[in-house]
Amino acid sequence: MYDNNPTINNISKKLDPAKQGQVFADNRLSNDNLKKFYIESYGCAMNFSDSEIVASILSDNGFGSTTSIDDADLILINTCSIREKAEVNVRQRLSVFNRIKKTKPGLMVGVLGCMAERLKSKFLEEEKIVDLVIGPDAYRDLPNLLNGLEGGQKGVNVLLSREETYADISPLRLGSNGITAFISIMRGCDNMCSFCVVPFTRGRERSRDTFSIIAEAQDLFDQGFKEVTLLGQNVDSYKWENPDTKEVVSFAELLIRVANVNPLLRVRFSTSHPKDITDDVMYAIRDYNNICNYIHLPVQSGNSRILKLMNRTYDREWYISKIDRIREIIPECAISSDIITGFCSETEEEHQDTLSVIDYAGYVMSYMFYYSERPGTLAARKYTDDIPLEVKKRRLTDVIRLQSQISFESNKRDLGKTFEVLIEGDSKKSTENFKGRTSEFKMVVFLKQPNLKPGDYVNVKIDDCTTGTLKGHIV
Ligand code: SAH
Ligand code: SF4
Ligand code: F3S
Repeated sequence: MYDNNPTINNISKKLDPAKQGQVFADNRLSNDNLKKFYIESYGCAMNFSDSEIVASILSDNGFGSTTSIDDADLILINTCSIREKAEVNVRQRLSVFNRIKKTKPGLMVGVLGCMAERLKSKFLEEEKIVDLVIGPDAYRDLPNLLNGLEGGQKGVNVLLSREETYADISPLRLGSNGITAFISIMRGCDNMCSFCVVPFTRGRERSRDTFSIIAEAQDLFDQGFKEVTLLGQNVDSYKWENPDTKEVVSFAELLIRVANVNPLLRVRFSTSHPKDITDDVMYAIRDYNNICNYIHLPVQSGNSRILKLMNRTYDREWYISKIDRIREIIPECAISSDIITGFCSETEEEHQDTLSVIDYAGYVMSYMFYYSERPGTLAARKYTDDIPLEVKKRRLTDVIRLQSQISFESNKRDLGKTFEVLIEGDSKKSTENFKGRTSEFKMVVFLKQPNLKPGDYVNVKIDDCTTGTLKGHIV
């Protein structure tokens, strides 16, 4: 889901679209007479989902979209602050946009997303490189701020909200494959992990109206989509109270309601927090064939002292007990993780605990990072970032090496098995092959057959594999 560190396999690509900023446009909006916006997105799936909300707001206000910077009247960059490298990438792109701006009078440049709050004055006043700065909860104000720009004002709104969920806005599925889509079910985060900026950049946690989520899933299915991923920083704490009946909908209940939209609509979700995931969620995965056998359950560290410093509110034993419980209820469930190496004061022995938890959990893949201190976080205020960069990187290499082995072993165990695969489109390397995923979120590549198309389900028997991909043939 993230941007500056290595990921192990193709599984990561779907939720990790931001290796380079991604550019999207929607052909329905390619009307030559409209003013055009160009949007580049960085960071996690939530940011990509937000770009679709922004696109929807702009299209309702007379803008068309373009994938070419040269055609744009408005360039937007949806930014990420999660690690220092993420911010460096964005600043590099902004200097490129700024050069273009100098040659094209009237071109507007706007910063959206997680860097907005922290860097608003820097962007607008000190460096004067952007016209607009808009935080994640202020996108409805975009048309209004754009109007102001025409009168020569700079536009800024970085206010965070306790209520905004954009529940009524129908996202414009930019650059979509027409088969898989994200649905945001909540915003913000109340967890305060000591290393993390998200609670500061995205504000307090709030859950979106259940009915609007179901309606969005139904609408996607009616348009031909076959898979939705329910998004939130901590989906297990989803909780929505119906104002009329006072009925409270939990995440497990929401999952079931979305699964009931249609058995042919696959349901995924991300991210689960080990302290909050419930047996009811596991039972829902077990009982509904279309709720995928896949849980992203970030551990961050395998050592209890470090977990305490990280303020993750669980220890190694608790985490392991959750892994055991998943295996007990859903033996075939794939589990993946996020890992941080070289957090403040981490010793070599404590690093070994992370390696052993990876081994124990047998993750199908992980997103792996070395610790990057973020201004304003609890860790930045309370602890010293004392692990030398080379050590952080070496520990990261240890983690990546082990995870690669485990991913490969996991894929080898699939040889000879048959999986139901949802076809997503042509494989990257050859138009003779389709690619698609198993319920366990493993990418499978296989030879096309003429009667099949993206969005179809097929049974594929696995003959070969790499660390990141299964290869097979239709049976
Ligand atoms: N809400 C999700 C994660 C969101 S951020 C969760 O709680 O799991 C995505 C990942 O980025 C985190 O899981 C963590 O592994 C990583 N991350 C966050 N802050 C970081 C930092 N300061 N340095 C390095 N990695 C970080
Ligand atoms: Fe950040 Fe922790 Fe919230 Fe995840 S749960 S977004 S890591 S504070
Ligand atoms: Fe980055 Fe913001 Fe997501 S900081 S990881 S884009 S919530």
